[in-house]
Amino acid sequence: HKVGPLSGKRVLVTSGPTHEPIDPVRYIANRSSGKQGHAIARAAAELGAEVTLVSGPVSIPDPPGVTVVRVETAREMLAAVEARMPVDAAVFCAAVADWRVAQAGEEKLKKDGSGPPSLGLVENPDILATIARRKEGRPILVVGFAAETEKVVEHAKAKLARKGCDWIVANDVSHTGEPGSGVMGGDRNTVAIVSAQGVESWPDMDKSDVARKLAERIATALKDKQWV
Ligand code: PMT
Repeated sequence: HKVGPLSGKRVLVTSGPTHEPIDPVRYIANRSSGKQGHAIARAAAELGAEVTLVSGPVSIPDPPGVTVVRVETAREMLAAVEARMPVDAAVFCAAVADWRVAQAGEEKLKKDGSGPPSLGLVENPDILATIARRKEGRPILVVGFAAETEKVVEHAKAKLARKGCDWIVANDVSHTGEPGSGVMGGDRNTVAIVSAQGVESWPDMDKSDVARKLAERIATALKDKQWV
C-alpha cells in the first residue's frame, strides 16, 4: 500500500449499477457507469487506504491498488459488503436498483399471444441503510450518495436522516440521458456534501477531482474521529 493520510485504514466503496434479472437474458438496470465510485476507490488507495471496491457490472477498468469484488444484483452486493466488514469508512456510490422482479423467469419469457407479461416487483434491501444502522461494527464514517433530479439538497437532507449515514454526497442527475451530459455515465459531477453540520457545495469538477477531494475529507474525518 502507498503511504499517506489513509495508511492503516480500511475503506469500502460500492460502484456501478446492479442488474436485476427478468429472465436468463433480460434484466432491469440503470445508466451508472461506475466512473465516480471507481475514482473514489482509486483516490482512497492513493492516500494509503486498504480499499475494497464492490462493483456491479461495468465496462471500465479496475482501479489500481484496489481489491475488486464483482457482483450483479443488489442482494449479492449487500452480501459482499457485509463480508468485508468491519471497515473504517464506507462510501456507497452504487446506483442500486430499488426493485427486482419477484419471480425471475428460469426460462426466457416467450411472446405467447396472451399479451405482455406483468413483472411483479419487490423491494431490494437498502445496503447503505443496513450498514449505517448496524449496532455492532458500524464503520466510523458512512457516506451515501443521492442522485436527484430536483430539490437536490432538500432531498439529500431527508435521505441523510432516513438512512442514518453521516454524509450524503448529493448530485444532480437531471440531465442524465441527454447527449453528452449527465452525471450518470458522464465524466463530471457537481456535488454538495450534506451532513448534520450543514451543506457544502463544490463547483463542477471532473469525477477524479471529486474523488480526490472526498478521499481527503475522509482522511481528515478519520484522523480526528470527528464527523464534519
Ligand atoms: O457511475 P457513474 O456513471 O459515475 O454515476 C455516478 C452516480 C450518479 C451513480 C453516483 O454519483 C450516485 O449518485 N450514486 C447513487 C445513485 C443512487 O442510486 O442514489 P439513490 O438516491 O437511489 O440512493 C441513495 C443512496 O443509497 C446511495 O448511496 C445508494 O448507493 C444507496 N442505496 C440505494 C438503494 C439500495 N437498495 N441500496 C443502497 O445502498
